[in-house]
Amino acid sequence: MDAIKLNGIDFTYDDGVKALQDVNITIVPGERVALVGPNGAGKSTLLHVMSSLYRPTAGQLEIFGEEVTQRTAEKARLKVGFLFQDPDDQVFMPRVWDDVAFGPLNMRLGPDEIKHRVGEAIELAGITGYEDRVPHHLSFGEKKRVAIAGILAMRSPILLLDEPTANLDPQGRRDLVNILESFQGKTMVLATHDLSVAFELADRVIVLKRKVLYDGGFRGLLERRDILAEARLELPSIPRLMEAWRIRSGKEFPIPLTIDEALGVLESEIDS
Ligand SMILES: Nc1ncnc2c1ncn2[C@@H]1O[C@H](COP(=O)(O)OP(=O)(O)O)[C@@H](O)[C@H]1O
Ligand SMILES: [Mg+2]
Repeated sequence: MDAIKLNGIDFTYDDGVKALQDVNITIVPGERVALVGPNGAGKSTLLHVMSSLYRPTAGQLEIFGEEVTQRTAEKARLKVGFLFQDPDDQVFMPRVWDDVAFGPLNMRLGPDEIKHRVGEAIELAGITGYEDRVPHHLSFGEKKRVAIAGILAMRSPILLLDEPTANLDPQGRRDLVNILESFQGKTMVLATHDLSVAFELADRVIVLKRKVLYDGGFRGLLERRDILAEARLELPSIPRLMEAWRIRSGKEFPIPLTIDEALGVLESEIDS
């Protein structure tokens, strides 16, 4: 059974802006998908549709095989955790512990279960010791981790992350990537305009610009200059360097994605 299925989704805002047009995407459980595209491409809109917060103008959404309708939207939302781009839209209780407990409380879980889940989520999100802090006073990166803990505590099988690494310093970005990498078995969709984050965290990439321009592996995308240009995406430095080297050297090799792969190519050239 698919985790998320979008069938001919259109989304038009009240002022007439057509943000999505005929989007068809199927995501299986456990898949990690990066949604990339320029500003205004419709990434956030699409995540809102996937989370059942927005009703599509046309088309159908299925979550774990169940069509989402007005009647079933609330139930579908429980299966989907949504990390907003701005943690200030998400973190609002006076204490970190209460903020993380907010979702489980709403799910009407028992006090022991709530305690257990909140403790676990706080640990996973790397904010142990922050329980009594005021979320509002934390740094951007810390608030982001509080928001992540809140989502983890709900144990939704699907996670939607909107620009999770935006506005984080390099260490904060690294910490967040490590946290997200450690999630086992979750279906993840992350929107980003940063291909290196996408490449680190996802095994499939969807390029969006109102419509789906590309859906597949990273390797295939590296060879699609037309799509990269249309979506104004910049290759991360390793593939960019190696592509330049491929042109300069006139040699034939698939563009490497990682430092290890790049070293492999360079070493085989030294040997030959
Ligand atoms: N609340 C809104 N009302 C009207 N237009 C909107 C609204 N939110 C976004 N848009 C428009 O929809 C398009 C897609 O926006 P968005 O989904 O935020 O793109 P992205 O997240 O890829 O930057 C843009 O043209 C944007 O201006
Ligand atoms: Mg956005």
